[in-house]
Amino acid sequence: MKSKTTSRLTRREFARSTLAAGVAAALPAGLFSACSVSNAARTANSAAPASSHSAKFDSSSEVSFPKGFFWGAATAAYQIEGAWNEDGKGESIWDRFAHTPGKIKNAGTGDTACDSYHRFSEDVALLQAMNLNSYRFSISWPRLQPAGSGPANSKGIDYYSRLIDALLEARIRPFVTLYHWDLPQALEDAGGWPARDTASRFADYVDLTARALGDRVSDWMLFNEPLAFIYGGYLEGSHAPGRESLLDFLRASHTVNRAQGAGFRALKATRPSARVGTAFSMSPCEPATSSEEDRVAAERAHAVTNLWFLEPALMGRYPEALVFPSETAMGVKFGDLDQMRAPLDFIGINLYYRTIASAPSALERISHTQQWLFPVKMTEGQQGPKTDNGWEVWPPALYDMVMRITRDFNRPQIEITENGCAYNDGPDASGAIRDTRRIAYHRQYLHALARSIADGADVRGYHAWTLLDNFEWDQGFSQRFGLAYVDFKTQRTLKESGRWYAKVAAQNRV
Ligand code: FCB
Repeated sequence: MKSKTTSRLTRREFARSTLAAGVAAALPAGLFSACSVSNAARTANSAAPASSHSAKFDSSSEVSFPKGFFWGAATAAYQIEGAWNEDGKGESIWDRFAHTPGKIKNAGTGDTACDSYHRFSEDVALLQAMNLNSYRFSISWPRLQPAGSGPANSKGIDYYSRLIDALLEARIRPFVTLYHWDLPQALEDAGGWPARDTASRFADYVDLTARALGDRVSDWMLFNEPLAFIYGGYLEGSHAPGRESLLDFLRASHTVNRAQGAGFRALKATRPSARVGTAFSMSPCEPATSSEEDRVAAERAHAVTNLWFLEPALMGRYPEALVFPSETAMGVKFGDLDQMRAPLDFIGINLYYRTIASAPSALERISHTQQWLFPVKMTEGQQGPKTDNGWEVWPPALYDMVMRITRDFNRPQIEITENGCAYNDGPDASGAIRDTRRIAYHRQYLHALARSIADGADVRGYHAWTLLDNFEWDQGFSQRFGLAYVDFKTQRTLKESGRWYAKVAAQNRV
């Protein structure tokens, strides 16, 4: 039903394409065809969407950012650390998945990756060379707590302590993600995220980490992109642990929402002054046409893409527009809605692309089961240029998303926790990496961000994805998102974009 290529795209396309692809995998064949929906949507939406800004943000003049703005770069443990089985680290679901033949492009693994476990001081030196004052990195749960429960691994704590001390010494804020997708394999063996108990295990891990490192870390993210990891991991199967089950996906979504509440409370109990958020995968959802049906579809797309893990935290409820999945299928029990509450101190936004939404036709609704369960078609925008991995470059998406969250949630603190682009430029004959498209990308998105701040958004920081070219999940090492080039055998070299970003950070303007 799904080709490998389609499935590789779908984590990204989830926000853009449709819940359909995954639901299709879980429903009886013949009821539904994922590909036909995506393709139909693509054709139907190739015209300009009704509400899109055709006006570009003017990035020719300079704009300044607020005093004290955090200029940062982001990474994740499995994507850079390597040392997958050193110093008492437990196996994670990503170790297991990447070691399974056929799961990762060109058989890549994170076994060594950028070797940051041994070379973190070089990473810190790069951050310093770019004048950055914030580093978003994640803690590997199985490095700290090898089996996902029980005592801490002291060597794991030592590693993160040394990294944090080096950052503080360099006057760089440690901005810590507690879960960037590497669940201890032992917990997956016990049921993984679909199992209710995993929420308690997560809260214990958060408590242990806050005790060990919270004397020097004040800014935390509980999760990275909840929707992306449960979608890829439990429904589509392209990410660890590689399951393809609608029920597991729905159950996992609810456990993660409960874990977000439980983790929030655990962190605040141990470190009451900690500033706690989550980095959500977000994408502004535009109606494909000006019809009322497409407008409604765009609101549904917004609920599933942007609110599924945010509204439970801030309001203790699932979004109303999320007519499917039902709370029964997710396994919601009495008292759970209160447990999901987590009054986050800031909202982290990871943003890469926009989404175009349209209403399925009557025929599609009858013939595609998914569309009476979840009546919306989503696809990617087609007007802008594409990065090397095919994502549309559309800077107004950042403005639109930040303003929507600002309006709908009473001007919360926002951190841009990821934004970036895959361009695979390598060194030229002189050894320089002239990635001018990356400079243009960040310049335009930063102009859009500056406009949102001028229009009233409370944005505290911007983190480029990513510091180093690294292991890009199921895509292995085939995509280079870094401000620094990594040749994976010897060293890291700042790209031209890294030098440019250093000036932006130093001058606090772009
Ligand atoms: C985000 C992930 C991050 C990286 C970028 C390209 O969805 O959070 O780890 O893979 O995409």
